[in-house]
Amino acid sequence: MPQYQAVKGARDIFPEESAQWKYVEGVIHTVASLYGFSEIRTPVFEYTELFQRGIGSTTDIVGKEMFSFLPDPNGRSITLRPEMTAGVMRAALQKNILSAAPVHKLYYIGELFRKERPQAGRQRQFSQFGAELLGVSTPAAVAEVITLMMQVFESLGLRNLRLRINSLGDSDDRFRYREALKTYFAPFHDRLDDSSKERLEKNPLRILDSKNPAIQEIVAGAPRLYDYLSVASVEDFEKVLYYLQERGITYEIDHRLVRGLDYYCHTAFEVTSSELGAQDAIGGGGRYDGLARELGSSSEVPASGFAAGMERVLLTMEKQGLFAALTPQGPVVYVVLQQAELADHGMQVAWRLRKAGIRTEIDLAARSMKAQMRDANRMRASWALFIGSAEVTTGLYAFKNLVTSEQTTLSLEAVLETLHETASGELQK
Ligand code: HAM
Repeated sequence: MPQYQAVKGARDIFPEESAQWKYVEGVIHTVASLYGFSEIRTPVFEYTELFQRGIGSTTDIVGKEMFSFLPDPNGRSITLRPEMTAGVMRAALQKNILSAAPVHKLYYIGELFRKERPQAGRQRQFSQFGAELLGVSTPAAVAEVITLMMQVFESLGLRNLRLRINSLGDSDDRFRYREALKTYFAPFHDRLDDSSKERLEKNPLRILDSKNPAIQEIVAGAPRLYDYLSVASVEDFEKVLYYLQERGITYEIDHRLVRGLDYYCHTAFEVTSSELGAQDAIGGGGRYDGLARELGSSSEVPASGFAAGMERVLLTMEKQGLFAALTPQGPVVYVVLQQAELADHGMQVAWRLRKAGIRTEIDLAARSMKAQMRDANRMRASWALFIGSAEVTTGLYAFKNLVTSEQTTLSLEAVLETLHETASGELQK
């Protein structure tokens, strides 16, 4: 085994797989633009307080999953971003973009870091794509965010996804509900684990998110947040559902869905994939009107958004055979050297073809002609251009169509003309 391995929970993406990533990213860019979302890129690290304030100090992410460090002995703690929403809101507030235009529709694809126990579909460095709609959080806006997410999934061809949705109400609704939860959990106090006891004091809603089976059993009998929603909150939620129904988006209402981050209010949602096993959440999000104030903004910024795990999207696509049609782009021309001594001339020809925009391969390892031809076929090159000593003197090259095996003798100018005539030189295969 080599001495150095990738850090546990991080992985390499080799060319075959990066072609899949590029394809998925292309679909995300296209669909985002259909909905008028523009790309934002924020730093991979932020001051630690941003996440403590934004995501909530009683969440698992802030409590135990952040990679934080001190850049210098007297510096402020910095954290590798565990999610994007807080950073995007920080950027929007810092640049004050909402004063110039009240609504901003932003999307991103980026790397995240969480100190979780690595397993299939769960890494310490992973990627998300997501979108944040800032400045308005009407049911139409929230439905737009969900629809955008579902259209990306649909355009990728993903099947068997489950969209679960819930309303967390407004802060008054949650205040009443928190009191009800405290009353409910009080008699179970001795059966609660340490983190649930702490959560009972600070934020009882988080207990609903516990992964401990013993706690889940107690949670099963807890009151439902839905029963504590005001009439206005219920109406808001129903309007979101109405838009989804109108668009043929299937959902299930899940009264226990609270999500793992504290900034949500009203609509929250999660999508799971039956292909993924234990880590089955492929994406999630919701409305977060309170985040901007939490980050020190003097006024509220109504907002909603979602993020989906790129690795989990790719894993699902792989399992559903959705990459089968993705064949790598081979070279248009393979420049074949009949003798190794002609390499310099061959290099010059290859360079001229590449300058003219033709994907061109040439052997750099002085291999036999047979090996070069094998390579050309393996790479599915469309044409072979032969460099022999006669070619070098006359400037006329044997040029072979590798599909029909027809061969002609042409000057380099005539080769380029032929390639441009046959739709950038690629043959119908
Ligand atoms: P989240 O549910 O924490 O939400 O993460 C979204 C998605 O990221 C998950 O559904 C999952 O697919 C993927 N994910 C999370 N952790 C890992 C991991 N360790 N390894 C692989 N994939 C992972 C958020 O991050 C919110 N910022 C979403 C949002 C945007 N809400 C509003 N706007």
